Amino acid sequence: MGRRLSIWSAVFVFALIASSISAEEAESKEHVLTLDHSNFDDVVGKHDFIVVEFYAPWCGHCKKLAPEYEKAASILSSHDPPIVLAKIDASDEANRKIGTQHEIQGFPTLKIFRNGGKGVQEYKGPREADGIVDYLKKQSGPASAEIKSTEDANKLITDKNIVIVGVFAKFAGEEFENYTALAEKLRSDYEFGHASDVKYLPRGESSVAGPLIRLFKPFDELVVDVKDFNLDTLEKFVEETTVPTVTIFDKDPNNHPFVAKFFNSPNVKAMLFMNFTNEVAEALKTKYREVAEQYKGKGISFLVGDLEASQGAFQYFGLKESQVPLIIIQANDGQKYLKPNVEPDQVASWIMEYKDGNVPPFKKSEPIPETNDEPVKVVVSESLQDIVFKSGKNVLLEFYAPWCGHCKKLAPILDEVAISYESDPNVVIAKLDATANDIPGDAFEVKGYPTLYFSSASGKLTQYDGDRTKEGIMEFIEKYRDDKTAAQEPIKETSSEEPGKDEL
Ligand SMILES: *[C@@H]1O[C@H](CO)[C@@H](O)[C@H](O)[C@H]1NC(C)=O
Ligand SMILES: *[C@@H]1O[C@H](CO)[C@@H](O)[C@H](O)[C@H]1NC(C)=O
Repeated sequence: MGRRLSIWSAVFVFALIASSISAEEAESKEHVLTLDHSNFDDVVGKHDFIVVEFYAPWCGHCKKLAPEYEKAASILSSHDPPIVLAKIDASDEANRKIGTQHEIQGFPTLKIFRNGGKGVQEYKGPREADGIVDYLKKQSGPASAEIKSTEDANKLITDKNIVIVGVFAKFAGEEFENYTALAEKLRSDYEFGHASDVKYLPRGESSVAGPLIRLFKPFDELVVDVKDFNLDTLEKFVEETTVPTVTIFDKDPNNHPFVAKFFNSPNVKAMLFMNFTNEVAEALKTKYREVAEQYKGKGISFLVGDLEASQGAFQYFGLKESQVPLIIIQANDGQKYLKPNVEPDQVASWIMEYKDGNVPPFKKSEPIPETNDEPVKVVVSESLQDIVFKSGKNVLLEFYAPWCGHCKKLAPILDEVAISYESDPNVVIAKLDATANDIPGDAFEVKGYPTLYFSSASGKLTQYDGDRTKEGIMEFIEKYRDDKTAAQEPIKETSSEEPGKDEL
């Protein structure tokens, strides 16, 4: 799940955040503390509150963050009490264990350590100096701020943020303790405040008495009350009520936390992409919203994305601007379903068709090339069946990425192999751009580039992980090639008894 989220975040959110960061010169005196494996536990253990950046020297986003982080550290060093910012090179072999221990999956990752490391939270604040300073000042103070007046409330509760307010006649007792525990636990995600009277609060029923928790949000019903103070119930309540009926994905950074939440959800994901400034936009949004409301709590989450902000998503899914407005559904098994050029009146019926299992899955594919007469044949998603599985030939297939250096090195070697087999009608050497074509996950496991698979004429699939030399590859092909008649044998049994195949 975490891994998937980081891919999504890269596609959607961070591309935007990164572009809004301005680079500034680093100052000469370093305020950021440098940690390593020898002193990490010691230093963290000594602090009530310390922030640690897990970084890698080669990481571009880390380099952009560095001057901002240093500037924030310099400002926060004179805060009372001082707030310490530290960093650790988690890509360094010696520090790896610490990174693993803290489940670092990407760089930079910032974590807040409280009480000598007993409490750990992900840093979810901005990445420029002033934003870092504001966020950390708040994080180092009390989890919940007391609201003593309407002015206090209006300062805390805006029309852009989620705020959770506890209302108590007196700030003591089990309900108050549970509220405080909730605030401590979720403080890096939401704003918290407590008040002795609902009359200070800007929205919601004003004739109710505490104890009660009122959640303010900038979407849907805007305010929701809860009176059950069981900690688990409260957490679930917050989790559920803070997901918008329709998540908006555009260039507004206020919406990005919800986008991250959307992709982190275990639900099926429906996404409507369109040009927000188009005439049909409002009609479509309205219809889409109606459907989203209808499917609430039924395992589908809904997002609407502005074309202008969605290039990453278009590339990822292999979509074209000419298909806009479109709905794409990503199911939990990885299958995708596409409705291009959708009209407002088709939204509900198409989602229903999908639910009923009547929409065929959509595959990202390059077009089948008109000519394919180079020694190494080009395979795309749409021709994979014909060239590899149904051809009755022995096919060596390379999954590559256009930007991959090792693939470029392999290309002339594959060419040579292909030329060597040019007079053999039963052997095909082929390649597939795995960034532009969906790959059936039940047949191939492609974790890096290049990945080589051999599909024998009878349909036995074997991954090649030997030397990337002409000799090595040809030896392998000769060992595993067969002819179509071999398919009469039960495939599963023979391949599991196959000699020379490592279980690893
Ligand atoms: C506070 O939370 C605990 C743990 O969930 C629960 O057992 C207890 O009943 C809660 N107290 C109140 C007053 O709801
Ligand atoms: C969206 O539509 C507007 C108005 O028709 C147009 O000016 C704009 O270029 C479109 N945006 C994109 C990203 O296509």
